[in-house]
Amino acid sequence: MNFEKKLNEYIEKVNFNIDSYLELRYPERIFEAMRYSILAGGKRLRPLLLLSACEAVGGNIEDCMPFACAMEMIHTYSLIHDDLPAMDNDDFRRGKPTCHKVYDEGIAILAGDGLLNYAFEVIFDAICKKGDINLAKAGKIIADYSGSKGMLVGQVVDIESEGKEIDKDTLLYIHDNKTGGLIKASLMAGALIGGASEKEVEKFKEIGYKIGMAFQIKDDILDVTSTTEVLGKPVLSDVKNNKITYVSLFGMEKAKEDFEKLSEEAVKLIGEFGEKAEFLQWYAKSLINRNK
Ligand code: IPE
Ligand code: IPE
Ligand code: MG
Ligand code: MG
Ligand code: MG
Repeated sequence: MNFEKKLNEYIEKVNFNIDSYLELRYPERIFEAMRYSILAGGKRLRPLLLLSACEAVGGNIEDCMPFACAMEMIHTYSLIHDDLPAMDNDDFRRGKPTCHKVYDEGIAILAGDGLLNYAFEVIFDAICKKGDINLAKAGKIIADYSGSKGMLVGQVVDIESEGKEIDKDTLLYIHDNKTGGLIKASLMAGALIGGASEKEVEKFKEIGYKIGMAFQIKDDILDVTSTTEVLGKPVLSDVKNNKITYVSLFGMEKAKEDFEKLSEEAVKLIGEFGEKAEFLQWYAKSLINRNK
């Protein structure tokens, strides 16, 4: 199986669907701003995790498409708001000026709100059409882990910790929630849609914790080792904002060590799902070498 080819096919499918969900309509400016940020690029990590988790438990990925696109909408909303002057105040994202730089701050705030809301419009539409309790459960997981059990609360503690000496537990809380939240939700929702048992969904939560933590450690590493050209977003953003990161708290060597350990543990756990999880396992492995 050519996994690289499959990866590109999945990305194309997701992009095609996002493009059609968010067709331009009145009032054009808000849809333009939403399209600008979501179609600017991005690895599509969360949709890919959702689709491949569904596949890993024997499900049909076509049932997942609305949920996969919704995850990317929620993720893009989090990026638009994360870049605002009131938060990380960054001018580049996905290789382009940030949403508030191209539009104004008001439209950027609303474009974020719009993407978050649209995600649930798409999710509820899918639930209503299919009437399947597993889809409803997947929707609930996505709502919880985007909000009070994940991304929202992680971002709150992240910005409240700026300029402060935070301890290890607080940093782990921030990373597990701000980034782990959407990653756990993607894997758990994909598994649920694919018909996973409760025990299997719990296993995906554990995998999501490890991938999420590893992903944010790598993001912290790249903030100090990469370039703006490669990343498509400003380097040294954390330094500028006086944020404690995994690198500043533990040092580069331990950050790299823990990143590798968590990634390898995740890859191993995925292996427990057998042959059907080969693509997910390959994809998780590929994240170890990511440079952006
Ligand atoms: C960036 O996420 C924000 C973090 C959670 C670290 P990604 O690195 O997945 O960004 P895109 O989607 O590829 O732009
Ligand atoms: C943000 O973490 C995670 C989000 C929920 C957006 P960062 O602030 O480190 O993400 P980047 O580095 O700007 O992509
Ligand atoms: Mg941030
Ligand atoms: Mg940021
Ligand atoms: Mg970062």
